[in-house]
Amino acid sequence: MDSPCGSPNSDRQDGGEFQFTFESLITSSTRSILESLGVEGSCSVSLTESVFDFPQEFGRTFHAYKAGLYLFPNDDIEQDRLAIQTEAIERLCSGKVHFAPFSDKNPPRNVLDLATGTGDWAIQIGEMFPSTKVIATDLSPIQPTLVPPNVHFYIEDSSERWIYSERFDYIHTRGTAGCWQSFEKDIAAQAFEWLYPGGYFESVELDNYTGLLCSGSPPALKDIYRRVGFEDVHELILPMPMNGWPDDPMLKRIGGLWERNFLSGLSGMTLSIFTRVFELSPEDVEACMAPAVALINVRRELSDLNVHAYMNLRIVWGRKPVA
Ligand SMILES: C[S@@+](CC[C@H](N)C(=O)[O-])C[C@H]1O[C@@H](n2cnc3c(N)ncnc32)[C@H](O)[C@@H]1O
Repeated sequence: MDSPCGSPNSDRQDGGEFQFTFESLITSSTRSILESLGVEGSCSVSLTESVFDFPQEFGRTFHAYKAGLYLFPNDDIEQDRLAIQTEAIERLCSGKVHFAPFSDKNPPRNVLDLATGTGDWAIQIGEMFPSTKVIATDLSPIQPTLVPPNVHFYIEDSSERWIYSERFDYIHTRGTAGCWQSFEKDIAAQAFEWLYPGGYFESVELDNYTGLLCSGSPPALKDIYRRVGFEDVHELILPMPMNGWPDDPMLKRIGGLWERNFLSGLSGMTLSIFTRVFELSPEDVEACMAPAVALINVRRELSDLNVHAYMNLRIVWGRKPVA
């Protein structure tokens, strides 16, 4: 994709409404209708087609727009994994969907959810605040087509310069490990710029997992928020058990979900990194590497109830100063 022609950003440069072509509501049947109307030759339609043309590797599919930028697959297995991850995070957060101080009486006018994945959070927020316009973006068009009318999905690389037609009251990230080269420059600084004064930025991210993949990210999240200018910065740290080792029944259930999330995500992520970076074969990655990192052993240890491991889920939110 070497031309920004028809990209969501270029479509918005005139400050008008978003172009319909990037909505996930464009199903293959809609595309056939567009084609029958003779619009298949348009620049934006061909771009829409190409974002569905998922590259395949190891029997998995990956995002087509900016192919290779993000290492996890985007197929059904990955979408099921994201559903498990969401359930574990939501249970750990006691069902709380947002931490920034919005409410029925004080809903955000508009929300931006970056790297939305299957769009679960965006849809929940759209249902919770029906008068709020929710924009959610991702490299992959893997969001459902039946969504509340106030929720809109677009294909976008959020590490590029953002160009929107209006600012936001609330910008959100969750589980964006491995998505950004620099969380501070690419995301936090742009969120600061694109929020209305008094608007909130919020991140729900995992420690160390992200630290490994993307240095300078969530472990320093609170500092990053302050550095780019946010005030009234809050941080909540919740330990996520790696498997069902806790005695507490609720944490045991959450740990069991996290173990499933990890077991499911392990090969998709590891194969991409180890085959590309170390030029290993998938078989080597599975069994023949150094014992500590061979997946066969990692899986065994992940499920070992004698290992009482956890990782921190870090929730940070802060306000853009009013003046
Ligand atoms: C682990 S998923 C998290 C999804 C979602 N936020 C959630 O909580 O379920 C990460 C998502 O980030 C997207 N992504 C990765 N790099 C991105 C980028 N540079 N711009 C936009 N989306 C990106 C991926 O396509 C993937 O869907």
